[in-house]
Amino acid sequence: MKSFYITTAIDYVNGSPHLGHAYEKVLTDVIARYRRMMGDKVHFLTGVDEHGQKVQASARKEGIAPQAYTDRVSQLFRDLLPKLNISNDDFIRTTEERHKKVVRQVLQQLFDKGEIYKAEYQGFYSTRQEQFLQEKDRLPDGSWPEIFGEVTEITESNYFFKLRGYQEWLVEFLTQNPNFIFPAYRQKQVLEFLKEPLNDLCISRPRERLEWGIPLPFDEQYVTYVWFDALINYYSAVADLPGVWPATWHVIGKDILVPPHAVYWPIMLKAAGLALPQGIIAHGWWLTAGAKMSKSTGNALNPLDLVSEFGTDAFRYFLIREMNVGQDSDFTREQFLVRYNSELANNLGNLVNRTLNMTTRFAAGVVPAAEVTEEPEAQLHALWTKTRDEFIPLCEGFQFHTALERAMQFITATNAYIETRAPWKLGKSAEPKDQALLRTVLATIAEALRLGVALIQHVVPTTTEKINGVLGYTPGPVWRDELNWGGRLTGAKVAGALVLFPRPAPPEKTPAKA
Ligand code: ME8
Ligand code: MG
Repeated sequence: MKSFYITTAIDYVNGSPHLGHAYEKVLTDVIARYRRMMGDKVHFLTGVDEHGQKVQASARKEGIAPQAYTDRVSQLFRDLLPKLNISNDDFIRTTEERHKKVVRQVLQQLFDKGEIYKAEYQGFYSTRQEQFLQEKDRLPDGSWPEIFGEVTEITESNYFFKLRGYQEWLVEFLTQNPNFIFPAYRQKQVLEFLKEPLNDLCISRPRERLEWGIPLPFDEQYVTYVWFDALINYYSAVADLPGVWPATWHVIGKDILVPPHAVYWPIMLKAAGLALPQGIIAHGWWLTAGAKMSKSTGNALNPLDLVSEFGTDAFRYFLIREMNVGQDSDFTREQFLVRYNSELANNLGNLVNRTLNMTTRFAAGVVPAAEVTEEPEAQLHALWTKTRDEFIPLCEGFQFHTALERAMQFITATNAYIETRAPWKLGKSAEPKDQALLRTVLATIAEALRLGVALIQHVVPTTTEKINGVLGYTPGPVWRDELNWGGRLTGAKVAGALVLFPRPAPPEKTPAKA
């Protein structure tokens, strides 16, 4: 069975991980967990991008060797993963020999095939973006856009990869594969970009200018351009694993779609005779006050602060619930607290508490069997069927925020069902009819809770496990078989209480650190 192989971008280690990096890991993890629920054999890769000018410059600033610098900073990225409960199978560093070996092989192969040639280049260079600029990159007033940082004019000999020769092929490929890039409107932007003639890609940097890179196998006076090196990680990490390549999805941010992932990477693979991935998912940016959160602007939030204040699952829940994959979202503490309080604590947390309390109080902690089906029960069953049937198509289309919203609406409806049935009143009646209804209510809410959490387990896996635990339930091996309303908890012994989402301190107070 071919693996479902999913990757994140590999992060530059020129600063600490921020919320944007955390989001990409969580989103990819949610997809990976969802595919495992669906029965796929998943291979999930993440890692760090350790070569290049930015890392060399950061190391120099501290007066230490790049390897020592990157050993330390890479560890920060690696340590973040368990804190976010990321289920990656592998973590790659581009300074690892397994990676460098494959980069050298690919370069040598392309060189031998005549896909790489040497030429003199004269023009402008952006150190910040590590890229050669063209006249068309200038602003109308002739200056260079800020994103390029300091721009210098240089003349030097370098090695070039023949991108232009593949331009028509790429346009044809994208036209034949309209779902290669998600969201689809981004694919249109790539085709737009490809309307201009492509320049061949400079894939080397002279060693006197940049030392920190993989030497070209055919000319040791040069190191490999960091993007050419970095992209190959997706392949180098699995080159020796059977049944994994090609990747299913590369998950990246929209800033690195065009040209690296949507133009360079497919062409590199094609030229090297390697299979192309099924596609690329380009997510949007987390913003603060309308500006992209980034290491260089100093407006970035540390994900670890939010995790230690609210817990891993609340953090994961917010990121996935708030962002529509592909679009940008502003991160505010207010919005985080609104969702935390209303959706997690008051809605889900409340249903858990009521289920446990009432089952303990009215049925000695043992879930009874349902005995009656009247309008309120029938309505809840019908809502379940609709929710469940819409859930898988939403997840297949990466609409995880809507899928989560629907799951939570079902939890809300279950809470409303409790209000309708008022079991606290039924509990005061000795009438056999009321007692049968009370048992029905207890059975119904326990089953609804079991089903509801089955739809959020890819997002909040620890919470799901805890809830199943207090319900005395062990899910079966096939997730889809869990989704039928079937009174599976009848006879289960529930726990007395579970505190899932304690109320955080009010926003104006400084929250106590754990
Ligand atoms: O680009 N919101 O590394 P990187 C959402 N090393 N995502 C964000 C973000 C934000 N505010 N800021 C960054 C690189 N990201 C290269 C990748 S892949 C072969 C090489 C995302 O550390 C960004 O879009 O600058 C990218 O996908 C990832 O974080 C790493 O960014
Ligand atoms: Mg970046």
